Amino acid sequence: MNKNLYGFAALFKTPDEIIEAAKKTAEAGYQKYDIHSPYPVHGIDRAMKLKASKLGFITLVFGLTGSAIALLLMYWTMSVDYPMIIGGKPFFALPAFVPITFELTVLLATLATVIGMITFFFRFPENDHPLHDTEYMKKVSCDHYGLVIEAKDKLFNETKVRELLNSLRPLSIEEIYYPEKETYPVLETKFVTFLILIALLTSGVTYFALNKLLYMQPFTWMMDQPKLNPQKQSTLFADGYGMRAPVKGTVARGFLPYPFTGQNAPTDVLLNPYLPTKENLQLGEQKYLTFCSPCHGNFGDGDSRLRGQFPNPPSLHSTRAREFSDGMIYHIITNGQNVMPSYASQITREERWAIVNYIRVLQRAKNAKSSDLQVVNKETGTNASN
Ligand code: HEC
Repeated sequence: MNKNLYGFAALFKTPDEIIEAAKKTAEAGYQKYDIHSPYPVHGIDRAMKLKASKLGFITLVFGLTGSAIALLLMYWTMSVDYPMIIGGKPFFALPAFVPITFELTVLLATLATVIGMITFFFRFPENDHPLHDTEYMKKVSCDHYGLVIEAKDKLFNETKVRELLNSLRPLSIEEIYYPEKETYPVLETKFVTFLILIALLTSGVTYFALNKLLYMQPFTWMMDQPKLNPQKQSTLFADGYGMRAPVKGTVARGFLPYPFTGQNAPTDVLLNPYLPTKENLQLGEQKYLTFCSPCHGNFGDGDSRLRGQFPNPPSLHSTRAREFSDGMIYHIITNGQNVMPSYASQITREERWAIVNYIRVLQRAKNAKSSDLQVVNKETGTNASN
């Protein structure tokens, strides 16, 4: 047996013949053989007795890995490293995590399938495959059907294989040999030296152009204009800083500082400047529901939606809370109280007072006075006392 024999290749003219040939070869017990055709021939896999591809396992494993990575990452960021309440949801909000989990699952699964298929199953790029550049390969990529039985097969025996192939009555039988080791001119010293020289030259010219040439006359363009970059030094001022601090006591427009800290607000100064008009109360309701209700509940009962993740606040209908002055509630929103954080950066001054007015409405609704039980005359809009 020739040591460099890759195998025997037989050519056929019709798809029926190749299916018959595949069946006979499989029945003869050969394992290392392959069929080549210009297009997928239906039924060939059954004729070859092929088992189901294992590619699906790669997809499954990498898909599950993707899901696990996505869930772990989100669990770690959202529940461990930087827990944040978003829209009143729990830290580990599974439904909200579904899209990212899905995306990462699909991403890893598809990448692994394609890369696995091409490199692992097809052994791409197998440049020196013996079938390359053969007459056989030319024919089977055009209008013929081919069968190759490899010499590596355990049952391979030249005379027996020839007998089998002859019995199939092919157009031709070709012996395929391994090609001799190829040499690659690209790896020769001369060429490599040439490449290195080109690389050095290109980087040298680029460096010179970007770092020297552009700073020479007449290429100074806009680089020379008198200006100051942020955070840069300046020789103009004695302290050498380019950026100047604002004059002491400067107040930015619309950012009057809030001077009170601690638990007690000077309520004689903090007076509610807004009347509880319809617009004002609607603003207050909207802001209350957005910023306060996750903890205080929609009606101020302290029935937090974050149970177990944040201490429940007390009811806003306690005598204590009802006796708070408007200024005190404003102060608590602005400054926070114990574990409750400050909302000064999220809610404007006007909105804070509107929330105060709205809390008054909630409190009044739960503790109505008898004078509230009045029937409003719809025509005149006045109170028609009963
Ligand atoms: C993250 C949860 C949370 C949010 C959001 C929140 N609070 Fe509070 N609030 C608390 C907790 C907890 C307390 C109790 C603090 C303490 O121990 O003194 C509290 C206390 C208060 C009190 C004092 C009640 C009392 O009897 O001492 C008022 C008034 C109040 N909050 C108003 C508001 C308003 C108005 C908003 C919306 C701008 C708001 N809170 C948003 C958690 C929250």
